[in-house]
Amino acid sequence: MNMIKNDLILRTLRGETTERTPVWMMRQAGRYLPEYRVLRDKYDFFTRVQTPALAMEITLQPVDLIGVDAAILFSDILVVLQAMGLEVQLIENRGPVLPDPVRTAADLGRIYVPEVEEKLGYVFDAIRLTKKELNNRVPLIGFAGAPWTLLCYMVEGKGSKTFDLVKSFCYTQPELAHRLLQMLTDTTIAYLKHQVRAGADVIQLFDSWGGLLSPDDFEIFSLQYMRQIILALKNEVPTILFAKGAWGSIPEMVSTGTSCIGLDWCIRPETARKMAGTGITLQGNFDPARLLSPIPELKKEITKMLNGFGSGRHIANLGHGILPHISVEHAKVFVETVQNHIHKNREKQVLSSL
Ligand code: CP3
Repeated sequence: MNMIKNDLILRTLRGETTERTPVWMMRQAGRYLPEYRVLRDKYDFFTRVQTPALAMEITLQPVDLIGVDAAILFSDILVVLQAMGLEVQLIENRGPVLPDPVRTAADLGRIYVPEVEEKLGYVFDAIRLTKKELNNRVPLIGFAGAPWTLLCYMVEGKGSKTFDLVKSFCYTQPELAHRLLQMLTDTTIAYLKHQVRAGADVIQLFDSWGGLLSPDDFEIFSLQYMRQIILALKNEVPTILFAKGAWGSIPEMVSTGTSCIGLDWCIRPETARKMAGTGITLQGNFDPARLLSPIPELKKEITKMLNGFGSGRHIANLGHGILPHISVEHAKVFVETVQNHIHKNREKQVLSSL
């Protein structure tokens, strides 16, 4: 039984034909919104994340202000590392920092698979509160980081362009790496199942650094673990697998059984569709920096993307998170251009012409 009023995203994930393409934006609750910045000035990052009433308020901001077709819980992928025993700080203008990263067998002694209810209860409370406040207007997306992306921060201790340290860790101590990846996977499965129980309607897995791996290493260090997570959720909710830069592995990602694959902007929609086949929903893939274009050009580019994906099995989104210096006006143009778009030959689904 589905009581959600605007369930376009859920229907698109099921492969049904919808009256228009649904749209949301990764990092839609964030610094580009003045209303978010007000709360950011008052409370530090993890206070915002760990206080259900604040997380709920921030989650609803883009629904109320921009009119997106889904809410995504305001939280962070790194809360899982905190729950596993690691200290995580978020430092202004520098991003996440882990003062004691994991690099040796001895370090593993500090890490454990937690009782998620005990350690991450505030996330489930935030989901329950948000669902109540959303009042079934749009679906609520829950999420987690992919084990590989979490391992990147766990070992490196901070962000990086190349993540050389975590790669050398994996290539020189593969046994340790796989033990950690399995612990991350087990924690994530329990965490996401609880998110679903609390009310999340869809789950997205963020593998932000999957594209740093060769296709073979992507399978070994990332995809085999994401497959376990997707399998564990398969009978519960639709799943979206977003592995930035890993579109060379689209066929392998399809074979996980996920409902949808998220794409960055470095692949043409038509190419992605050919690689994915017609039996799966695609999400994406507008270059977030393209939102900076003057509005007439912006509208043209969005329309081009929509026509590239065609009228079925597509959720419009950015190819990565919205940038902090995008104007609210341009973000609204993105959402409204998608929502007002009428596909030509809608009856002749692009999918069936492949
Ligand atoms: O999409 C949403 O609106 C939901 C909220 C959300 C946040 N982080 C809030 C956040 C989601 C889904 C994430 C996921 C996340 N966090 C990822 C995967 C997606 C991606 O962007 O690749 C990663 C790698 C992280 C780790 C992380 N958290 C980084 C690297 C940073 C600093 C960089 C930055 O954007 O500032 C964060 C902090 C963070 N997480 C912010 C927000 C809104 C900014 C904090 C602030 O308000 O200053």
